[in-house]
Amino acid sequence: MSLIEDLQWRYATKKMNGNTVPQKKLDYILEAARLAPSSSGLQPYQVFVIANKGVQEKLKAVAWNQSQIIDASHVLVFAAWDGYSEERIDTVFNKTMDQRGLPHTTMTDYKNTIWGMYEPLGQDWQAQHAAKQAYISFGMAIAAAAEQKVDATPMEGFVPDKVDEILGLNEKGLKSVLILALGYRDEANDWLVNMKKVRTPKEEFITELS
Ligand SMILES: Cc1cc2nc3c(=O)[nH]c(=O)nc-3n(C[C@H](O)[C@H](O)[C@H](O)COP(=O)(O)O)c2cc1C
Repeated sequence: MSLIEDLQWRYATKKMNGNTVPQKKLDYILEAARLAPSSSGLQPYQVFVIANKGVQEKLKAVAWNQSQIIDASHVLVFAAWDGYSEERIDTVFNKTMDQRGLPHTTMTDYKNTIWGMYEPLGQDWQAQHAAKQAYISFGMAIAAAAEQKVDATPMEGFVPDKVDEILGLNEKGLKSVLILALGYRDEANDWLVNMKKVRTPKEEFITELS
């Protein structure tokens, strides 16, 4: 199947059947998320993989009681940095230089430029910027799940502060941004399964300037 066919197949599953996603498919989805591009390559986010009904119950309670959280095989929580710091930026660049066999000073000017830009914009802006990067990774995971014929529900419908509390994210300098429930559709009980996929028509979506 082509990527387009996979994207037509997927939908934001409303009712899952509790079946388990094989580890190999889960790993594939997580690898796609890990390979996502991010601004300056900072990857200012992490993914928490939850397959624990006790934790899933707690998450469901702060996620509008959405049943997918408990019926999912795995619940992915995408959590972004709560802000940037010189130390966080240095750590990423130093690791990159180490892996490329280059001196840590190779990109000092670039690092100073981005920190010079980000610092005055404040922590709220920085957290928002980090969250935007997490959305790109999230999109990759959604597409990879579709390719693996794993159903997924992308979710913003939760109280981030409560999720942060449940997963202890504050202590890690992270904030929850998105949830992706992974599992399999319950065809008999999902009201959305046979509904037409509706998108903005191409003529409205695309503006060509040539
Ligand atoms: C960032 C984001 C947040 C969403 N939050 C929820 C959610 O909390 N619960 C839910 O059932 N669907 C949620 N959705 C699903 C959208 O409603 C759905 O993707 C959209 O209507 C398009 O339909 P489709 O994904 O079935 O093609 C979310 C989607 C995205 C991308």
